[in-house]
Amino acid sequence: MPRVRVHQHVNPLAPYYRQAPMPLDVAAVFERPDLPLHLDVGCARGRFILRMAKLEPDWNFLGIEIREPLVEEANRLADEAESKNLHYAFCNAMLWLDRLLVNIPDALLQMVTIQFPDPWFKKRHAKRRMVNAELVDMIVSKLAAEGKIFVQTDIEPLAEEMFALFKADERLKMIDEIENPFPVKTERELAVESRQLRVYRKSFQKS
Ligand SMILES: C[S@@+](CC[C@H](N)C(=O)[O-])C[C@H]1O[C@@H](n2cnc3c(N)ncnc32)[C@H](O)[C@@H]1O
Repeated sequence: MPRVRVHQHVNPLAPYYRQAPMPLDVAAVFERPDLPLHLDVGCARGRFILRMAKLEPDWNFLGIEIREPLVEEANRLADEAESKNLHYAFCNAMLWLDRLLVNIPDALLQMVTIQFPDPWFKKRHAKRRMVNAELVDMIVSKLAAEGKIFVQTDIEPLAEEMFALFKADERLKMIDEIENPFPVKTERELAVESRQLRVYRKSFQKS
């Protein structure tokens, strides 16, 4: 099956990506909507949660991605796999994550992963970075008590920026992570690992 071709990056501040998504109805997309929810933000082709959903049938997995064709392809693969605990949503997380999740009961969101988000290296593009103070607030506000956030990247300045944003939130405590705590690696993590690059990781837990 050929991979769907997409732009490598999209500008999240362009008018098309400023449109609000419809709130997600968990009862419509998951067979057991009351299961704890794992959110993977910036999931790209979504292979990480495709595999996690098989390994963890007592969790629901929701991938969020701004590149719409990837979301369509990932949902098609989830349907083909007859996966009942996996769904992908097209959403510009930095602007609209709270609206997408507004109808999800607060206690459900127990795990959030953000793995290798786009660095947008140039200073004039820094505003396009997905992990900003607003995204952190949206995530932490929706996260269940004791819920966790796992963040990793190979780009040191971006890691420092992201960790500082999460650290600044007084509802969170920080946990150092040497290894990825999950049994599955994302496509980007595998690529980085094959080049033997250092990866910066942290977890945060809501108290
Ligand atoms: C470098 S890729 C990493 C993908 C995957 N997490 C991995 O580790 O293999 C970053 C992904 O985040 C997505 N992304 C960037 N900004 C986003 C935003 N504002 N909302 C949702 N997804 C976004 C990109 O389209 C891309 O698929």
